[in-house]
Amino acid sequence: MENIYRPKVLEIIDIIEETPDIKTFRLGADISYRPGQFGLYSVFSEGEATFCIASSPTKKGYIECTVKRIGRVTDALHNLDLGDKIGFRGPYGNSFPIELFKGKNLLFIGGGIGLAPLRSLLLYCLDKREDFSEITLLYGARSVSDLVYKKEINEWKEKINVFLTVDPGGETPDWKEKIGFVPKVLEELSPKREDTFVITCGPPIMIKFVCSSLEKLGFSDHKIITTLEMKMKCGIGKCGRCNIGKTYLCKDGPVFSLKEIKNMPDEF
Ligand SMILES: Cc1cc2nc3c(=O)[nH]c(=O)nc-3n(C[C@H](O)[C@H](O)[C@H](O)COP(=O)(O)OP(=O)(O)OC[C@H]3O[C@@H](n4cnc5c(N)ncnc54)[C@H](O)[C@@H]3O)c2cc1C
Ligand code: FES
Repeated sequence: MENIYRPKVLEIIDIIEETPDIKTFRLGADISYRPGQFGLYSVFSEGEATFCIASSPTKKGYIECTVKRIGRVTDALHNLDLGDKIGFRGPYGNSFPIELFKGKNLLFIGGGIGLAPLRSLLLYCLDKREDFSEITLLYGARSVSDLVYKKEINEWKEKINVFLTVDPGGETPDWKEKIGFVPKVLEELSPKREDTFVITCGPPIMIKFVCSSLEKLGFSDHKIITTLEMKMKCGIGKCGRCNIGKTYLCKDGPVFSLKEIKNMPDEF
């Protein structure tokens, strides 16, 4: 019988240093997945951790994950080199409702490393640009050095509207973009809500204030989509680590609309 916990072994074929504590790993793999899904990545003899798949399924032959160094597994991962091998279980979870997004305006709102799950969908949309109407990205981080995907974002500017911001005090002398917390910048931009879906991910406090700003701007809950992070172990609905009431984040999520989240018990 197949062991559902046995990981595939993947080779690290590229590493990008995004910030002092965040790296993107490209892993050689032929895996089918949808934007929004995640995997359980293992560093042998250290353990497993959950990361979203940050690349787009339109690009074949590899998957990417962007990892912030915060503890045992992420430390070990950051110490690996090109050619080293890691384990991967997945892809798991639901995904962004791309069919609903077709022909609509999309507003991506990201904070810090929360841009990683949005990047999978954003790259997908850039490769299928004609399927979507206006695309806007509002992305913020604590400081200029905490912004991820800097080089790519400059390329995205040719195809979509991009607004970058850093927290007050996080700017450098040559910073020409916005200064201020993401929800405040969002309210200043006052984006159009007609035919627009919002896709947001970032620290929980940012998501909370972004959602209340969106409500003020008149966006309805079913058009605000986010992806939740909770500690996970099995990733496949067996261990009971990640449930909120009857909803298992690993199996039923991690992607939910604000309307769905408001119907969950207030446990997180
Ligand atoms: C669906 C999903 C997608 C994720 N995607 C990404 C991603 O793309 N990139 C990324 O860097 N991280 C992501 N995470 C978070 C990531 O799983 C944790 O940072 C990682 O498991 C930490 O492992 P560690 O062994 O290094 O830390 P540990 O040594 O286990 O913990 C170090 C510290 O971090 C805290 N911690 C550990 N896991 C979490 C968590 N999930 N949420 C909040 N605090 C935590 C611990 O309580 C402890 O204080 C995701 C989590 C989920 C559930
Ligand atoms: S992580 Fe085990 S049930 Fe969700």
